[in-house]
Amino acid sequence: MNKDLLTLAALDGPDMDTLFERAQALKDRQKSGEARPSMLGKSLGLVFDKHSTRTRLSFEVAAIQLGGVSIFISSKDTQMARNEPVKDTARVLSRYLDVVAIRTYSQAFLEEFAEAADIPVINALTDMYHPCQVLSDLLTVIEKKGGYKELKIAWLGDGNNMAHSWINAAAALDLTLTLACPEGYLPDDRILQSAAKKGGQIKVVQDPYEAAKDADVVNTDVWASMGQESEQAQREAVFKDFQVNQELMAKAKPDAIVMHCLPAHRDEEITDEVLEGPQSVVWDQTENKLHMHKAILDVLVNG
Ligand code: CP
Ligand code: NVA
Repeated sequence: MNKDLLTLAALDGPDMDTLFERAQALKDRQKSGEARPSMLGKSLGLVFDKHSTRTRLSFEVAAIQLGGVSIFISSKDTQMARNEPVKDTARVLSRYLDVVAIRTYSQAFLEEFAEAADIPVINALTDMYHPCQVLSDLLTVIEKKGGYKELKIAWLGDGNNMAHSWINAAAALDLTLTLACPEGYLPDDRILQSAAKKGGQIKVVQDPYEAAKDADVVNTDVWASMGQESEQAQREAVFKDFQVNQELMAKAKPDAIVMHCLPAHRDEEITDEVLEGPQSVVWDQTENKLHMHKAILDVLVNG
C-alpha cells in the first residue's frame, strides 16, 4: 500500500484483500475481548470540513481501541480558515500526529495536503470519493455473501462520491457492477474510463430495473450530497424513479441484501419499509466502519 489512502484507484485487489482480512481479524479479536494495541502512544488527527456522525466516531473509537488517541480538528477553527497555506498546515500536523483523516470538499485539497505531509493521510470523504466507506461496505458484503466474486452489484441513484469509489473497487476486484443513474447525474467519465482499462464488468444504465435485475447487492445513497442542499427539490424530481422500494427489490435475487451508507432520507432514495426490512444490512455496515477503520490505521501506521 502507498503512504496514503486517498482513492481506491490507488489500491489493487491484494491491497484490498489485506484490509478485509485485517479488519475481520481485528473484529474477531475485539469480540473475544483481546486487544491489539498497535497505536499505543500514537495520535490520529481528524480534520473535518463537513458534518459526520459515523465516520468521525468510528475513527475515534478505532484509534482508542488500538491503544492510541484521536484529536478532532474542525477546519474552521484552524489557521487554514485564515488562509494559512495547506502545505504549511500539513507539515505542522506531521510534527504532532502519526496519521490524519480528512473530510473535505475538494479532492485536490486532500492531494495537496498529502503531498506535503510526512504522515499517512486518509480520505474520510470528499466530493469525489468515499473510499473507506466502500471498503467497509465490501467487508459487510463478504460477511453476508461469503465473498465478493460472482456477485451482481447494483448502484441506484446519483453518480456521486460513493458511486465513484464503488467503480474503483469494481475495477480492482473484478466485480460486476451496474449503475443506474439519471441523465445528467452519471458518474465522472474519466473515472469510468480508467476503471474500464483495469477490470471488472462495469456498466452504466438509465433503467433502475435493469440494474436491480437478479442483483445480489442493491446499493443506494442520498440524492443530494453534502454541499448540494440547494439542489434538493430539483434532485427529488429527477431521481424519483430511482427509489429503492419493494417493487424494485422484487427484481433482485430473493436473498439480495440492501445497502445504504447512511444517513438515509426515508421515502426518498429508499422506502422506510425496505430500510427497516429483512434485506437491509445498514446497521452492520455502520458497525463495520469501526473494524475497517481499525484495519486501515493498523496497516498505514504499522505496515
Ligand atoms: N456514512 C458516513 O460516512 O456517515 P457520516 O457522514 O455520518 O460520517
Ligand atoms: N454522498 C453522501 C455520502 C454521505 C456519507 C455525501 O457526500 O453527502
